[in-house]
Parts: sequence; C-alpha cells; structure tokens
Amino acid sequence: MKLLRVFVLLVSAILLAAACTTAPEPVGFQPEILPLPADPSDYAPIASYAAMEIPADNPMTPEKVALGRQLFFDQRLSGDGVLACYSCHQNDLGLSDGRPTAVGAFDRPLTRNSPTLWNIGYHPEYYWDGRSKPLASQALAAWRGGNMGADLEESVTQLNGIEGYQNQFQAVFNEDATSENVSQALAAYMRTIISIDTPWDRWQAGDESAVSDAAKRGHEIFERIECNNCHDGVLFTDFQYHNVGIGMEAEEPDLGRHRVTEEDSDRGAFKTPTLRDISQSAPYFHNGSVATLEEAVDLMLGGGQENPNLDRENLKAADLSEAEKEDLLEFLRSLDEPVQLSEPPLP
Ligand code: HEC
Ligand code: HEC
Repeated sequence: MKLLRVFVLLVSAILLAAACTTAPEPVGFQPEILPLPADPSDYAPIASYAAMEIPADNPMTPEKVALGRQLFFDQRLSGDGVLACYSCHQNDLGLSDGRPTAVGAFDRPLTRNSPTLWNIGYHPEYYWDGRSKPLASQALAAWRGGNMGADLEESVTQLNGIEGYQNQFQAVFNEDATSENVSQALAAYMRTIISIDTPWDRWQAGDESAVSDAAKRGHEIFERIECNNCHDGVLFTDFQYHNVGIGMEAEEPDLGRHRVTEEDSDRGAFKTPTLRDISQSAPYFHNGSVATLEEAVDLMLGGGQENPNLDRENLKAADLSEAEKEDLLEFLRSLDEPVQLSEPPLP
C-alpha cells in the first residue's frame, strides 16, 4: 500500500520530468499500470522490473499515453472499420485473440498466432521472428499490414477530421495526426502494459499466502528441469530465438527467425514467449497448433518436436510424475494477471 503510493508518486514525478525535459536523452521509465485498480489497497508491491529503455525521439508523457490508449481501442484505425488493435489483444484472452491464427481486416487469414502484449515495451525486437523494431515501427506495420489493413493516408485524414483527436494531436505533438505520431502514441501506450500483480509477484514480494504450496513446488520443478534456460527472468523469456520443433513437419514450414537472419541455425526458431498470463492465452505456439496449456507443457516436457534444428542444448526431455506435472501447471497459473486494460472514451 505504502509502496504503491511511493510508486505512483515516482511515476508521476518521472512523467512530469519527462514532459518538461527538452534534451533528447533516453530516459529510464517505470511505467504506470492502466488502469489502476479501484481500491489501491488491493494492489501488490511492485515486482523487480528494471527501468524501461525509452527511445529519445519518443519520450513518455501522460497525455501521449492517453492518446495512444484511445487509438489502440479505436476501430476507425482499421481498413474495414471493424478491428481495433485491441480486437486481437484482449483481456480475457491473455491479450491475445483466442484463435489458432489471427484473422486480419477484411477477413484476411494471417499465418501466425496473436502474441500477448504483456510487458511488450521490454522486448528488444518484435513479432515471433523479431523482424521489427523499435515498437513504433512495429505499431506502424500492424496498422498498415494485414492485421489492421489500413490505408495510412486515408486513416490519418479520417483522424484529423475528428475534432477531439485533432486537439489532442496538437496538444501532444504540436501538429496534426501523421502516420509517424500515431505510431509513436501507440508505442507509448503499449509501454505501460505491464504485468506486475500476479500471485507469483506477490509471493516474490514476500506474501507467502499469495500462491499455493503446489505452485511453490511447481516453481522449483520449473527451475530444476531448466525451463528457465529460455523462459528466464521476471518476464520468463530470454528474448532469444529457439527451435522447439513446432510446425516443422509441415511441407513448407514457417522458418521463423531464419526469414530475418538467413542463418541455417535459425531455421524454425521463434522468440521465446513470455509465460505471464499464459493460462489465458490459448491456443499456443506461433501457429496456434496446440489447444490447451496441458498439451503445450506436455510437448515441452517431451523435449520438443523432433527436427534437424531442435535446440537440444537448452531443451531436454523431463520425466515428471502426474503430481509434479500438476504442480508445474499450478505454478504457471500463478502467473495469471488480474489487471485489465480498459477502454477509454473515444472522441
Ligand atoms: C487481426 C489481429 C491483430 C490485430 C488487429 C492487431 N494485431 Fe498485433 N499481432 C497479431 C499477430 C498475429 C501478431 C504476430 C505476427 C507475427 O509474429 O508475424 C501480432 C504481433 C504484435 C506485436 C508484437 C508482439 C511480440 O511478441 O513481438 C505487437 C506489439 C502488436 N501486435 C501490437 C499491435 C497493435 C499496436 C495493433 C494495432 C495497430 C495490433 N497489434 C493489431 C495480431 C493482431
Ligand atoms: C530451448 C528453449 C526453451 C525451453 C528450455 C523451454 N521452452 Fe517453452 N518455448 C520456447 C519457445 C521458442 C516457444 C515458442 C515456440 C513456437 O511457437 O514455435 C515456447 C513455447 C512455450 C509455451 C507456449 C507459449 C505460448 O504463448 O504459446 C509454453 C506453455 C512453454 N513453452 C512452456 C515451457 C515449459 C513448461 C518448459 C520446461 C519444461 C519450457 N517451455 C522449456 C522455448 C523454450
């Protein structure tokens, strides 16, 4: 409770400082969770997240984050007027969309599963294959590409025809909406999507009653069988690309990271997904080929799927009893995030 107040004060101070600063220095940013829970006394102490790197050309300000949040929820950004960014990154679906592979604007089928956006501002590279960075360029790609299918010029003209947006863009960027500043506002908002209030975080912060004994045993198992060779640290990802064999049996498999680096060793390698909110974000893997968390864990426990590039160095088969497997799953469920993104009023 006290910690939260300190945290909120700290965030306000940093945001204020960021708003006043003119020097384009990269700033460390401790992001705010939006929305804060109605009763702050429910709020857990803060997990030990590092300060987030913020690009010098897109400093965080509360007004920019608020604008980005509106844009994220606004269907008018999509080519067909039906989808918002949020459509494929929803609360009850672990900030994903519940589909094996996404369906973009104009009902265009896409080839990959929608990843969660929790803690996305900490990722050094975006998409399952890491082909895009920084976050503002990713946002632009999602807006213009198959996901949202927007014609940027039309979309920007439309935004500038909406009085509320026009005033906000002037206030935040000193200019009308452009494809660049829309992407910057979206990126600023996404940097505030932080998962820190899971039972696991509360346990790590010293609340022994926050998780069950089964989850505690599961955490030990997770480390003992070295799932954290890849699902490492407070975000449960090393941000590296590994081949665990998913989809490699296909006639023309998605080669993942190989498409970016053209290295043979990257054939079939994908970014290690975070495990935060994992029980909510079914179906699993880059191609959504596995329906339940139990099956996904079984597949990893089996040492992945056989193929010439399987990362055997990091991923080893582990023989767990049914009870141990249940403990492991209980630990993964302790990573469920209760904080919800909420839709702001739109102009
Ligand atoms: C039709 C569903 C859909 C919509 C709409 C959509 N996304 Fe996504 N999003 C996806 C899919 C699928 C991927 C993964 C694509 C890939 O890896 O090739 C993704 C990936 C991302 C990522 C990278 C995640 C990671 O782990 O690297 C971010 C960030 C993101 N989307 C933000 C947005 C924003 C911002 C918008 C709105 C401008 C948006 N998305 C709209 C489906 C969608
Ligand atoms: C070699 C690194 C590595 C190790 C070790 C590893 N994983 Fe993974 N894990 C990955 C990668 C990479 C993916 C995504 C693969 C894909 O979609 O093609 C993944 C996906 C998952 C998923 C699905 C996530 C999602 O959002 O779709 C779960 C659940 C999972 N792993 C759990 C585990 C568990 C439990 C262990 C320990 C038994 C483990 N992993 C060990 C790299 C690893």
